Amino acid sequence: MSKKKLVFSGVQPTGNLHLGNYLGALKNFVSLQKEMSCIYCVVDLHAITIFQKPDQLRNSVLETVASFLATGIDPNKSIIFNQSAVSGHAELAWILNCISRIGWLNRMTQFKDKAGSDKEKASVGLYIYPNLMAADILLYKATHVPVGADQKQHLELSRDIAQKFNNDFNCKDFFPLPEPLIPKNISRVMSLRDGTKKMSKSEESDYSRINLKDSADEISKKIKKAKSDSDQIPDNLKDLENKPEALNLINIYSEISKINLDKALNEMSGKEYSFLKKKLADLLINEITPVGKEINKLLSDKGNLEKILEKGKEKANIIAEENLKNIREKVGLI
Ligand code: TYM
Repeated sequence: MSKKKLVFSGVQPTGNLHLGNYLGALKNFVSLQKEMSCIYCVVDLHAITIFQKPDQLRNSVLETVASFLATGIDPNKSIIFNQSAVSGHAELAWILNCISRIGWLNRMTQFKDKAGSDKEKASVGLYIYPNLMAADILLYKATHVPVGADQKQHLELSRDIAQKFNNDFNCKDFFPLPEPLIPKNISRVMSLRDGTKKMSKSEESDYSRINLKDSADEISKKIKKAKSDSDQIPDNLKDLENKPEALNLINIYSEISKINLDKALNEMSGKEYSFLKKKLADLLINEITPVGKEINKLLSDKGNLEKILEKGKEKANIIAEENLKNIREKVGLI
């Protein structure tokens, strides 16, 4: 088995990226560049499992690339490209559709959440979405996959698919079993309006999330309006057990201020949530608004973003084609 470590991850181009994407994924993407070869993909084929307006999709792909760059992903170190530009993703996804089991897909909680109550009307693409995700990772034989906790189940499925492929075709270790890299402290940033739901692009209220492109004023207002608690901040985690919105704010505070949760609670205990909110808003403004400004600046030169995608596609395609050649051979395709 190839011992080479390789990172792969993807982000859907479905509108503004937010604090959840930033703390759950992008920050990790950036730091991993120092240690390993990294491939970061704008997963446009995943995005179209739910209808996207074509012009908006094209813009969102470029905006996602701009967000990658603005947070510190370096196109000279990492490969940045969009999924549909490398046709191997779709080809391997088909092969893996034939490996993956219906029973496995039936267990995927994200499909249940996204399809809602009328599953008959969900696209077939949405149902087999996790197989395409496995194809993304296995196409490059990636060993490490940085994601937020919401993607853990999909990663486990990717491992099951890899293992079944290796068994079915009697090629032990052909696909490495990809390791999820999930942030330890804040693996799931929750909605500012409902602490039981993850912060998400698809949540209707913009007050539920901090977008990377929000102005200082918007960040201040959103944090001020965020649900918290009427009691004072406690000095221990146990007292926050049934207060998910309050816990979420403290979690974000501890992550952004780079102190652990106990220290954050120590610092804040006995204070009103308004005190925490003021400090948190200032920290977020400091960290997020420069990113938003950089995204807008990068978006003013779309040609440059397209060039980065083109170069990334060429590099990704070389690895993908080489691996696909071996995959086709294992399966018996001529
Ligand atoms: P997507 O586009 O929903 O999210 C991109 C990344 O952001 C993380 N994330 C969060 N982390 C913490 N708290 C949150 N509230 C939050 N919201 C989003 C996600 O975990 C993800 O890491 N299926 C994937 C994209 C994908 C992929 C892949 C990822 C396609 N192929 C292959 C890894 C490897 C998705 O929809 O992510």
